[in-house]
Amino acid sequence: MNIPPAFLAELQSLLPPSAFSLQPAVLESYARDESSQPAQTPLAVVWPETAEQVAAVLGLCNRHRVPVTARGGGSSLEGNAVPSPDGIVLSLERMNKILEVLPQDFQCRLQPGVIYDDLNRRLARDGLFFAPGPSSGDVATIGGMIGNNAGGLNALRYGVTRDHVLRLQVALADGSLLWFGTRAMKTSSGFDLVRLMVGSEGLLGVVTEIVLRLHGLPERKTAMARFETLEAAAQAVFEIMSSGIVPGALELIDENSIAHINRYKGWDWPETPTLIFEFHGAPSGIAEEVEMAREICAGLGASYFEVAETPARREQLWAGRKEITNAEKALYPDHIMLKGDIAVPLSHYAAAVQKAQALGEQYGLAVSIFGHAGDGNIHWHTLVPPSDAAALERGEQAAADLIRYALSVGGTATAEHGIGLAKRAFLLEEHGAAVEVMKRIKQALDPNGILNPGKMFFDERG
Ligand code: MLT
Ligand code: ZN
Repeated sequence: MNIPPAFLAELQSLLPPSAFSLQPAVLESYARDESSQPAQTPLAVVWPETAEQVAAVLGLCNRHRVPVTARGGGSSLEGNAVPSPDGIVLSLERMNKILEVLPQDFQCRLQPGVIYDDLNRRLARDGLFFAPGPSSGDVATIGGMIGNNAGGLNALRYGVTRDHVLRLQVALADGSLLWFGTRAMKTSSGFDLVRLMVGSEGLLGVVTEIVLRLHGLPERKTAMARFETLEAAAQAVFEIMSSGIVPGALELIDENSIAHINRYKGWDWPETPTLIFEFHGAPSGIAEEVEMAREICAGLGASYFEVAETPARREQLWAGRKEITNAEKALYPDHIMLKGDIAVPLSHYAAAVQKAQALGEQYGLAVSIFGHAGDGNIHWHTLVPPSDAAALERGEQAAADLIRYALSVGGTATAEHGIGLAKRAFLLEEHGAAVEVMKRIKQALDPNGILNPGKMFFDERG
């Protein structure tokens, strides 16, 4: 479909020429995110620079019933930022200012297009950090992290994105612009619209300004343990978390993921199940926690336990972990990556890891298993050539079986990547009749279904 002429004429009157594009090459570059979901070319891309412009664009789209997909860095993994058919992309890339850092309140105010790493580089000057961090998406923006309630490496100690958002300015589908929340550390006032917006994947409004809660930068120590079996590594996670230690990060990496890291980086890490820890806090507490973790790992037969003694070694350990997905993409550029992103209650963690492994064997698939073990989150990847329809079907079946297993033990279909396009089949299975409540909220805030339609729910218009 071509862009409707009346819509285009109004768009041209709202935004300067530099703030939108209809050029095919530009449109193509916004047609997908980091998932394997099919590309969808938008009718136009707009780059507003103010909250008022965002609101005006939404009002225009609403009047003309043109779908609009808000987009940060485009690093989402489930098709969340793939444009909706016959719609436009509203990129927040140019709204990338850190407006204010308030060290005494442990807060900052910023625009949604600020890149996560840039924010933490700036906050470090005041001895602060924004804790929930995407582990693979280098270009993730704070707006995108809010859209998907990103978790990442440090969520087990500090909470996910939702736990760090105090206040939001939001443009609604009807073109209005308003604030939700306060700067108070706690409130009992009214419905919590801030938490409702976080994780709503662009279906309820577009965030135009944000107040975040921050933490002081802690002392930290990174360690690595290697195990004979995945079962022992997973059991160590459970025992460490049950011991009362709350690590800053606790990651599991299976042997296949290590093999990918080795091939990609030219390293020779032993290809065996591995845990990477980060301990945060006062130096004396850290030393005690390291020893407790070392003992637990030894009790489960860990053949190796190393505390990174230099910043360079610490960086290297984390670089390996953070590059797993990049490594897989680089090693299998033409393959479709099927993903699982389940989380289960901690007492089911070891069994869930075994289930993930067993499903690979049952369906004859090479799988990699890694993830934020300390909060029960398992990432499960399998790479399939697009020409192998049978393998694709087996991969999808295995991924679905893993999700159903997670749901059967009280877990979730997606811990941190969102529903997007890829996980829509499981929304109803996870939430049952509560999906109707979600749809009523969607209907109340976006009656014409213009905001990222087709994501999360199957219905074309929300
Ligand atoms: C990660 O933790 O590296 C990402 O969330 C996982 C992924 O790319 O699937
Ligand atoms: Zn992750």
